Amino acid sequence: MMNDFIPVNEPLLDGNEKKYLLECIETGWISSEGPFIKQFENKFAARVGRKHAIAVTNGTAALDASVDALGIGVGDEVILPAFTIISCITQIIRSGATPVLVDSDPLTWNMDVTQIEAKITPRTKAIMVVHIYGLPVDMEPVLDIAKRYGLKIIEDAAEMHGQTYRGKPCGSFGDISTFSFYPNKHITTGEGGMIVTDDDELAETCRSLRNLCFQPQKRFVHERLGWNLRMTNMQAALGLAQLERLNEFVVCKRAMGALYTELLKDLPDVQLALAKTDYAENIYWVFGLVLNDDVPFDAEEAMRRLSAKGIGTRPFFWPMHEQPVLQRKGLFDAERYPVAERLARRGFYLPSGLALTDEQIERSADAVKEIINHD
Ligand SMILES: Cc1ncc(COP(=O)(O)O)c(C=O)c1O
Repeated sequence: MMNDFIPVNEPLLDGNEKKYLLECIETGWISSEGPFIKQFENKFAARVGRKHAIAVTNGTAALDASVDALGIGVGDEVILPAFTIISCITQIIRSGATPVLVDSDPLTWNMDVTQIEAKITPRTKAIMVVHIYGLPVDMEPVLDIAKRYGLKIIEDAAEMHGQTYRGKPCGSFGDISTFSFYPNKHITTGEGGMIVTDDDELAETCRSLRNLCFQPQKRFVHERLGWNLRMTNMQAALGLAQLERLNEFVVCKRAMGALYTELLKDLPDVQLALAKTDYAENIYWVFGLVLNDDVPFDAEEAMRRLSAKGIGTRPFFWPMHEQPVLQRKGLFDAERYPVAERLARRGFYLPSGLALTDEQIERSADAVKEIINHD
């Protein structure tokens, strides 16, 4: 049985990846100085329609640098969704700023944008929007609020390569926007991330933060604390080859989502990832589902049962206000975000990698039907 275990993710690396990687080895360009970095950055910026792209070591680092580049620190508040990955909140906390949470929309699983305005105070500096699992956040209301209150937008598009909101690329909406290239993403560099922006000064700051804030004239004299977030030429080589195939990958993921939806749509007890809204069609970074309340077990048990049937799964995010490490810091005391809490307990995702075959999708869907049918 375990021989044909269906992994939750497997990337596709059968384009120019090998050729470009070999070029790195043959030319000796393996550090962050190599030519693929600029090529990857330029092509990525063009794809998202931004002036600048800054390649970094991962999506978390991209967020950390973005928060720091905006000068967010003690006394500032940043509004973000409760239902997200810890990467979104780490630098907000470390900088001494205060994270302010909003709950999720129960259908899209994205931040409920109608809750943002009530959370704004004179200390609010930025809104961090996080596009979740393949459907974008409803950006128009967020852009409108940011404009009216003079707030910055940090757009976490880690899961959104190739996605658009009302026809405009995700990653083009933030004052600063970020991506991840972890292998479960639509395109991967093994580990990697990208910051994009149209602002020359922010771009320059991010480039400096990426490189320990070395100074051009006095290299080892520092005016600011940075990080070493440099991507290697080998990672950029992979990224360039992957980017060439992004359109194809989006088509592939949409076909995966459509097949799962078709196979599971009549199952009464689960809520499936929403196929579309009036502003976007899902690109299914992952195919998620949420167990209805009449299913007599939670996501953890469902994942255990699916694993026993050879199906790989992953849980949904665990909300920020329920993180022990943050509660111990005295954050979010007695705050409740019921939609996020329910998603965390009832939601998980099925095998969703690019290498998935129709037969594997059918087997995964059959297994879900078997474990859910509790008649
Ligand atoms: C929404 C979101 N933000 C940030 C990240 C962090 O990216 P990385 O794993 O490259 O650090 C992820 C990773 O999966 C993510 O899904």
